[in-house]
Amino acid sequence: MQALLTAGGHGTRLRPITYTLNKHLIPLANKPMIFYALEKIAEANIKDVFINVNPGDKEIFQAVGNGKRWGLNVKYIEQTGGPKGLAHILKIAQPYLGDESFIFYLGDNLIFSSINKFVEKFEREKYHSLLTLSKVKDPQRFGVPEISKDGKILRVEEKPKNPKSNFAVTGIYIYSPEVFRALEHIKPSFRGELEISDVHTWLINNGYNIGYEEITGWWKDTGRPEDLLEGNDLLLRYSGPNGKIEGKVERGVILDGKVTIGKGSKVFGKTIIKGPAIIGKNCQIKNSFIGPNTSIGDNARISESEIERSIILANSFIKSAGKKITNSLIGEGARIIPNFESLPSGHRLIIGKDSQIEL
Ligand code: G1P
Repeated sequence: MQALLTAGGHGTRLRPITYTLNKHLIPLANKPMIFYALEKIAEANIKDVFINVNPGDKEIFQAVGNGKRWGLNVKYIEQTGGPKGLAHILKIAQPYLGDESFIFYLGDNLIFSSINKFVEKFEREKYHSLLTLSKVKDPQRFGVPEISKDGKILRVEEKPKNPKSNFAVTGIYIYSPEVFRALEHIKPSFRGELEISDVHTWLINNGYNIGYEEITGWWKDTGRPEDLLEGNDLLLRYSGPNGKIEGKVERGVILDGKVTIGKGSKVFGKTIIKGPAIIGKNCQIKNSFIGPNTSIGDNARISESEIERSIILANSFIKSAGKKITNSLIGEGARIIPNFESLPSGHRLIIGKDSQIEL
C-alpha cells in the first residue's frame, strides 16, 4: 500500500492567508495541517508517499522534505495542466503509483481516528475501492452516496441539490489500480473538473467491488476559516500539544486547563491563559487574557489584549486594548494596535486583498 496525498490548489476561501501560505501549511494547534495527514499515513504503516503539489511549488517540500521524520519516503508530483479536479490528479499520478493499491488522501481533510481499520477492511474484503463516509449536516457541499436498503452504494453524486443521503464521501479513499480504468471514461463536470465522484459511479456501474466504512469520530474538510477554527479547537483539546510549559511564566500569571508554552517564551504581568491553548516559541505575552481554543504562533508579541478562539500565526504583534478578538484567523506578521496611538483617531486599516474585518 502506498499513499497519494494532495497539497495543491489555491485555497481561495482562505484568502488572504493563502496568498502567501499554501493552505495545507496553515498551522492548527501550531502544526502545519498536512503533518496530521502524514502522521495518519505513517501510523497505518504505509511507507511510500507521493505528494501532489502545484507546479513550481517549493513550500511543501521545504516543510515536509523527504518524510524521514515520520519514517516515510516522500516524493513529489507536480500537477501540470492546472487544477482540473481530483480525477485529474489520479491521472497524473498513475505512472508513479504503478500496479499497487494506494490510499488517496486529501491533505485538507482532518480525521481523529486512525485510518488503519479502513486499510485493513479494504485488504480483507478485497475491494477495488473503499470509500470513507461521514454524516454531515450539509451534504450539498460534498460527494454524496446513494445507498440501497441492503447497504450497497448505488452511485455518488458531486454537490447534489437533492442529496440522496446525509453522508459525505470524505477525502480519504483507498483504491486498487483498477481505479485508473475509470479515468478515460469520465468528462468534466458542471464546475469544469474531472470529479472523483464520477470515478466512483463509473466503477460501480461497471461491476467493480466498492465498499465503504463510516468515520464515526470527528472528520472535517477544512476549506473555510470556520472549519479551521473548529479543527484547531478539537486538536487543542484532544491531541497535539503536550501541555508542557517550557517558557518562563512569571508569578501572578494564571494558567488554567491544558496550556502549552514553547521554549523561549515569556508570560508576564496580569495575564490569564485559559486552556486549551498553545503559545509557540519565543513569544511575549503581557497583561492579556488568552483562550480558550487559541493557538499563538512563534515570536508573537501580545500585550493588553483579549484573544479567544483564534489562530494567530507567527511574528504577529497584537495590542488590542479593550477590544476582544474572537473567532479570528490572523496571518503571519500582522499588527493590531490601538487607534489612540495613531491620530487622527478612527480605524486605520492597512489590509491586503480579500481581507475580512468585522469592526
Ligand atoms: C472534494 C470532492 C468531494 C468530497 C470532498 C471531501 O470536494 O470532490 O466529493 O466530498 O472533497 O473533502 P471539494 O473539496 O473539491 O469541494
